[in-house]
Amino acid sequence: DGDVYKYYSEGEWKTSSSGKSVSIVNPTTRKTQYKVQACTQEEVNKVMETAKFAQKTWAKTPLWKRAELLHKAAAILKEHKAPIAECLVKEIAKPAKDAVTEVVRSGDLVSYCAEEGVRILGEGKYLMPDSFPGNERTKYCLTSKIPLGVVLAIPPFNYPVNLAVSKIAPALIAGNSLVLKPPTQGAVAALHMVHCFHLAGFPKGLISCITGKGSEIGDFLTMHPGVNCISFTGGDTGISISKKAGMVPLQMELGGKDACLILEDADLDLAAANIVKGGFSYSGQRCTAVKVVLVMESVADALVEKVKAKVAKLTVGPPEDDSDITPVVSESSANFIEGLVLDAKQKGATFCQEYKREGNLIWPLMLDHVQPEMRIAWEEPFGPVLPVIRINSIEEGIHHCNASNFGLQGCVFTKDINKAMVISDAMETGTVQINSAPARGPDHFPFQGLRDSGIGSQGVTNSIIMMTKVKSIVINLP
Ligand code: G3P
Repeated sequence: DGDVYKYYSEGEWKTSSSGKSVSIVNPTTRKTQYKVQACTQEEVNKVMETAKFAQKTWAKTPLWKRAELLHKAAAILKEHKAPIAECLVKEIAKPAKDAVTEVVRSGDLVSYCAEEGVRILGEGKYLMPDSFPGNERTKYCLTSKIPLGVVLAIPPFNYPVNLAVSKIAPALIAGNSLVLKPPTQGAVAALHMVHCFHLAGFPKGLISCITGKGSEIGDFLTMHPGVNCISFTGGDTGISISKKAGMVPLQMELGGKDACLILEDADLDLAAANIVKGGFSYSGQRCTAVKVVLVMESVADALVEKVKAKVAKLTVGPPEDDSDITPVVSESSANFIEGLVLDAKQKGATFCQEYKREGNLIWPLMLDHVQPEMRIAWEEPFGPVLPVIRINSIEEGIHHCNASNFGLQGCVFTKDINKAMVISDAMETGTVQINSAPARGPDHFPFQGLRDSGIGSQGVTNSIIMMTKVKSIVINLP
């Protein structure tokens, strides 16, 4: 059927028996760019069955061989960075250079994961019994890490390749099989990435990629009895998955409302540069984007001026031109962002730039004098709109940060390391960055959110550990 990309099951590229497809709309042209298969529940069942079967042999495949295949996949992925990046540009309007960076970073992540897996999975423990009351030295406990089985990976549109491999690589090195459900926007980039794993020569059925509408196969996948672990990155859907999923380990990376706290002694040039990079890169469509600036009133005017000057230099346009600001992923997303802007306008926020929108393209906008009753003070726009709240004490800033239902990352700018440490301790977020904007990478750093921002911790090492279970063997002496 020509122009509909096939899905990947049993080591083969297949056409769905549904005869239906899902369209991927290019955010820039707002026209259908690609089509993918709308897979059926029977096709999901088949994928689960083969994943379960393939995993049994894979778990017994020597660790070094698993690592070798991952290194091969990483190299192939990097070789194919150009066509994959092109899909990212067309499907999710990622600026051209960032799209290439995403693929290269993904290859590096896969290699790192293989190396880390070889080390941490190559070690077990040996426990003596006589530390526990009543025991003599008559039992010896040997522990190792065993795979969970079938891991279901659901990455989001903003990193369809990177946040897919950050789940695939730890799952595979640990001896699991993997079923990938890519986001609709980004599905074709993900299918190309899966093809790199195919070329590397992984056993049939070990990796599958099923495409389709979340409304048709989403619940069926996440509630499938064949799933032994779910690793999800995205929005509110993660909360409903958590409520419906069975008794399986969950790794959830959900939204964020990352605060940037600026103290009176902060290096304002450094802070402004980080606010612009953190707030506006990929047009604010990152869960780790700076989503609210909390600045001490005494330095607020100076900071706002510096940020304004930098925002004026941002280029706005199509991703092919490597513009800083590109169209947001969908019309509904642009409408949602606009809703937040209009609410702030009606409630009296100061517009540092004129609000401008053409189709899905929204010009970068900073809103000053934002008040707690404005939606933008709390909600995540996932777009190039940044609220500034002026505060009169550090406590007020920390209180705003901790009152959020999100708790992904936060950052603080000050030259006083003692203050920075006390504030970092008080900020109830998974990570606090001192003198830099929030970010997930380097990808081996732990990455986790509190409250509605997630369950569990990611980063290469934590993901590998999360996708395993401890197995003990106890030797009992007579
Ligand atoms: O939004 C996804 C999140 O994982 C962000 O990653 O690398 O942009 O900080 P990064």
